[in-house]
Amino acid sequence: MRYLTVALTKGRLAGQTLALFEKIGITAEGADDMKTRKLIFANPELGIRFFMAKGPDVPTYVAYGAADIGIVGRDVILEEGRKIYEVLDLGYGSCRMCICGPESAREALSSGDMIRVATKYPNIAKDYFLNRKHQTVEIIKLNGSIELAPIVGLSEVICDIVETGSTLKENGLGVLEEVCPLSARVVVNQVSMKMESERINSLITRLKEALNE
Ligand code: PRP
Repeated sequence: MRYLTVALTKGRLAGQTLALFEKIGITAEGADDMKTRKLIFANPELGIRFFMAKGPDVPTYVAYGAADIGIVGRDVILEEGRKIYEVLDLGYGSCRMCICGPESAREALSSGDMIRVATKYPNIAKDYFLNRKHQTVEIIKLNGSIELAPIVGLSEVICDIVETGSTLKENGLGVLEEVCPLSARVVVNQVSMKMESERINSLITRLKEALNE
């Protein structure tokens, strides 16, 4: 039997997903060992294997068919814009994509002024300002600790993920606008969906049932 390959997002999402697969009787030896440097884990009896990748790489592996299935945040799916099927909302990893900044930036944001937006998600930010708000902005790509940007004067606002809101609060910033809700999703390669439809659909159904338990 051909292996069904599942790409997991390294970190907390992988842990929660492996726990969900365990609920439906699918495990892979060594996968839950958080200290291991191993990247791929197989269950030969069930013909399924898991590998760990950086979030933004998961849609890439799935789009090229190197993984049949991927588990990744909706933020990454939207940002990467790959041709893949999104088939299930897992509910966990839930947070919001927001435009944030100091209260003083609220006016510039609504007046349509040319402002600078720092973000790890340039495509999401571009789409939001151009297509939804019809506002021309300058997007500045950063790779982390985005909250720094308005504090040190790199940008007026940021487009970033808000989960508990504590990073914003601790840095004197707040949510100014909400872009969209986010959570972990199951994505599937378009060819795999046809060629392996039986195995993939049965897996999705079982995952859905386990989520509702
Ligand atoms: C994310 C995000 C925020 C923070 C939000 O950053 O970019 O900074 O978490 O979480 P909160 O609302 O619960 O405070 P992450 O920790 O992933 O690291 P990064 O700064 O390197 O992007």
